[in-house]
Amino acid sequence: DEEKKQHVARIKQLLEEKDAVLVAHYYTDPEIQALAEETGGCVADSLEMARFGNQHSASTLIVAGVRFMGETAKILTPEKTVLMPTLNAECSLDLGCPADEFTAFCDAHPDHTVVVYANTSAAVKARADWVVTSSIALEIVEHLDSQDKPIIWAPDRHLGAYIEKETGADMVLWQGECVVHDEFSAQALEKMKHLYPDAAILVHPESPASVVKMADAVGSTSQLIKAAQTLPNEKLIVATDKGIFYKMQQMVPEKELVEAPTAGAGATCRSCAHCPWMAMNGLKAIENALENGGEEHEIHVDDTVREKALIPLNRMLNFAA
Ligand code: 13P
Ligand code: SF4
Repeated sequence: DEEKKQHVARIKQLLEEKDAVLVAHYYTDPEIQALAEETGGCVADSLEMARFGNQHSASTLIVAGVRFMGETAKILTPEKTVLMPTLNAECSLDLGCPADEFTAFCDAHPDHTVVVYANTSAAVKARADWVVTSSIALEIVEHLDSQDKPIIWAPDRHLGAYIEKETGADMVLWQGECVVHDEFSAQALEKMKHLYPDAAILVHPESPASVVKMADAVGSTSQLIKAAQTLPNEKLIVATDKGIFYKMQQMVPEKELVEAPTAGAGATCRSCAHCPWMAMNGLKAIENALENGGEEHEIHVDDTVREKALIPLNRMLNFAA
């Protein structure tokens, strides 16, 4: 509508004026993803977001996603101003893994290699040997497993269990979960399969093992978008945040995409899974962040923490390169 058009026009102007670029995650609203694409920014998974921000020449990054993504950008490029539509966009995995408790957990397993998911605070990353995202977690753990050292994995227990099963690595798991993916239900998915017998099932590995077991493809957001293109099926049932449908449908306009059901939703789920924190990213908030910056929008990471967290983050980026 008219108001949205005005915000979009003003944001475009501000991006230029402030030498800023918009970096958005696949779970943000379609209008934000479209704007990022249109203005030379990126729409991506967490690994690609980190890489893009790290390599782009803009002096300001505006990160539409959740806080750990903004923090990662700041850790990698401290010379840049990193803004977010709102600093209240949390993540249940990050919230469920406080740095002090995590440090005690690590101290209790001193001979372990510490691997943390990107969905953590800067302080938790600072305690880690490796940071991984879902698109590279398997390869990195396989690599570490060949060194025969046991591994601490935090915070997502479902992703951890999936990797443990796939690699056979010796892992101690922190018991965190994503409030969105944890809700997918194998029972409800079984029922839905009867309605769409020819559909392939695409699952993000933050989902429970019973759901992952039913998958034809398991992977990060960008890997699921690729799978949608590669799999021959005309219909796809997708177990991840519904924000992904914008890009996925663009890539496979001829296919029918169906949201996987959450517990209790029955066989015909509509708009079930959407991260409440991703949903906080709006056009108005982006405009305000660019216009005013300041403590409501700007990411700061303590220098000592930053320098420590940079090491495992760079390990991941170098491994991925
Ligand atoms: P990826 O985009 O790396 O798959 O991460 C999913 C996620 O939950 C981010 O919040
Ligand atoms: Fe965190 Fe889950 Fe939201 Fe991703 S979808 S930001 S893992 S709560």
